[in-house]
Amino acid sequence: MTQQMDTRLRFLEADVSRSPESFADVVAEGLSAAQKWLPCRYFYDEAGSHLFEMICDLPEYYLTRTERAILDTHADAMLKAAGDISALVEFGSGSGCKTRILLDAAGKNRPNNLSYIPVDISGEFLYNSSRALMQDYPGLSITAIAAEYNDAISMLPPRSGPRLFLFMGSNVGNFDPCEAASFLARIRSGMHSEDRLLVGIDLHKHHSHLEPAYDDAAGVTSRFNKNLLKRINRELGANFDLDQFDHHAPFVDHHSRIEMRLVSQREQTVRIAALDRKFTFQPEEYIHTENSHKYSHAAFSRLALEAGLAIENSWTDEREWFAVCLLKPIEARH
Ligand code: AVJ
Repeated sequence: MTQQMDTRLRFLEADVSRSPESFADVVAEGLSAAQKWLPCRYFYDEAGSHLFEMICDLPEYYLTRTERAILDTHADAMLKAAGDISALVEFGSGSGCKTRILLDAAGKNRPNNLSYIPVDISGEFLYNSSRALMQDYPGLSITAIAAEYNDAISMLPPRSGPRLFLFMGSNVGNFDPCEAASFLARIRSGMHSEDRLLVGIDLHKHHSHLEPAYDDAAGVTSRFNKNLLKRINRELGANFDLDQFDHHAPFVDHHSRIEMRLVSQREQTVRIAALDRKFTFQPEEYIHTENSHKYSHAAFSRLALEAGLAIENSWTDEREWFAVCLLKPIEARH
């Protein structure tokens, strides 16, 4: 479905009726598994997107702040290294605050001939942030794509020159390493030799720094996590009692990841009307709602290599808590 909003803003939406799995199917599958789980992309309804914005401002959540500081310092160098690009394609654009730093740097070369292609799962949010960008960047044309990452790749507008793909904010950390490699490989398969990919990764560090970032004193991350249950209550007619679940976010060493969990305080049964089913929870039993992988430089470099990409350059902060890596396609040998 395409809607023409303005000559400078096109809004594309994935056809959800064609998507093989509905929210109901996903919830039924996840809550029937031996280890109950739910995919983290369902965090981001409108309320969830706003809660995530609040997380980004928390004192404990160093990720956004640190990445922004790296961009503030190095955006010009990044754009210089990427070459004379004509389009920025961003997966998981969110509110687009950090994007502006890169748009400013890219616009220095091409103020009137730059296109921006944000992809985000939250259509409403994407629409509002795209309108705001349009007003602030008079020379920019935008094609906004409301879709899951994998669906979006096939919806990208035709290439009109060198492109810089963006996958910022440690979003890559939500994937298991295998899935991350195959997603990066899919991006890679659409890249020409002059195209580049910028990836923001959260670096491995002591759990005393990691865990508070996912379990803040103000309880915002807990609300963000429980919003998933609220959403199931609202959209699927369930009766989850949010007060009977605890938010946990341990760093699991052998996977090098934070696991977000919703832990049942006691034995309880939840009914989901849309599924006409009941699910029983034992005391301490939890729903696994998100993984957030932390990488070393070496581990990320191996992952990129698996996807046919090489790290051409990377930038980090003083503490080396976060890194922004510029990847280029490895040329097939003849
Ligand atoms: C948006 C995936 C980067 O994993 O740090 C924040 C999401 N979850 N707090 C992350 C999140 C809990 C965030 N990413």
